[in-house]
Amino acid sequence: ALIPVPVGPLQVGAAADSSAPLIQFSLIVPTYNESKNVAKIVKQLTELLDDCLPGDYELILVDDNSPDKTWQIAQALTPHYPQLRVMRRETERGLSSAVIRGWQVARGNILGVIDADLQHPPEILIQLLKQIQNGADLAVASRHVEGGGVSEWSFIRRFLSRGAQVLGLLIVPNVVGRVSDPMSGYFMVHRSAIAGPCLNPMGYKILLEVIGRGRVETIGEVGYVFQEREEGESKVTWQHYLTYLGHLVRLRSRGRIARLRRQFPVGRFLRFGIVGLSGVFVDMAVLYLLSDPSTLGWGLTRSKIVAAEIAILNNFLWNDAWTFADIAQAQKGWNARIKRFLKFNTICLAGLVLNVLLLNFLFNVVFGQQHRYLANLIAIAVVTLWNFWVNFKLSWRV
Ligand code: GDD
Ligand code: MN
Repeated sequence: ALIPVPVGPLQVGAAADSSAPLIQFSLIVPTYNESKNVAKIVKQLTELLDDCLPGDYELILVDDNSPDKTWQIAQALTPHYPQLRVMRRETERGLSSAVIRGWQVARGNILGVIDADLQHPPEILIQLLKQIQNGADLAVASRHVEGGGVSEWSFIRRFLSRGAQVLGLLIVPNVVGRVSDPMSGYFMVHRSAIAGPCLNPMGYKILLEVIGRGRVETIGEVGYVFQEREEGESKVTWQHYLTYLGHLVRLRSRGRIARLRRQFPVGRFLRFGIVGLSGVFVDMAVLYLLSDPSTLGWGLTRSKIVAAEIAILNNFLWNDAWTFADIAQAQKGWNARIKRFLKFNTICLAGLVLNVLLLNFLFNVVFGQQHRYLANLIAIAVVTLWNFWVNFKLSWRV
């Protein structure tokens, strides 16, 4: 039977599929319209691996519902090749995700990948395995070390390939620079080095994900000559170059956006700002009620102090119930609540002083007694940041 396609995130598990015995090695063979190559590659791989890892390996062919029915041909081979398993994906597409889905159902401790079109010489597998057995976390078949090369590539093709590598070196040097052939789609890696993190299914270059998101310390390389394709055709199009570029950019920013969000919680700040605006209206309304000649007619300063204090109380209640609700939830009780309010009050009053000082400084010193409203705007912005930041750090501390 066909292997069911895993669903959910593209994430390799720490332990192999528990229903099956753990084996040494799982090799993924991704295919798309490789009907003319599949019998040959399966035969070659089986002969080779039966020799060096008898019964201790599996071949997992992952086909993306090829129109030429590659999956069906492969499935028909399984009675003759007990180590062969076949996955047919009917919705998901793409080389990288095919490889990851294969690894997700793999039972091996070492996870590998090889092209189905015989451009990757199978014999190299033995040397790659040796590298891993000698302690490498990752072993990469490379065109750019001793013994490596390409067969009959045109100048333009070599240029594009090297250009892509240089671009990668510029954008993510700490990933692309770690191997001589970062474009290689022929490698194997220890399960433990890639188990855990979600892998990005983008594009063709799964090796970059492995190096960029895995815990790969030592890398071994083995030279190989990239063979010419004899049957079928390459799936690479111009679009793949664009995807590659996008992939580099995402690798570069990996973790960085999440880190920034943790350091500066944008959502909280927006809520804090909205609450602040509500405070302005409360302040205005109270000021009117107290100081307007048609109502109470109090003096301006007295009215303003009361108005500001009520606005601060308003803001506190909303921030405690909304902006920082999760933190307030964790610190229940009147005592804690009053403490939060006193801190908030003090920090906001300090903010008010800061506001006045800053307004004066900007207006008198920086702008030479001009642009009073611009100066006020800047002062308000700075004080809002101050109020948010210091309250976040002190009043609603996690
Ligand atoms: N399941 C699946 N889905 N397989 C795919 C897909 C896909 O969308 N696209 C390609 N494949 C399979 C092909 O059938 C083949 O077995 C292998 O992936 C490589 O595809 P090719 O189209 O033959 O790639 P290439 O020869 O241009 O590139 C090879 O060399 C590069 C080194 O320059 C690949 O091995 C790359 O991975 C490698 O980086
Ligand atoms: Mn190929």
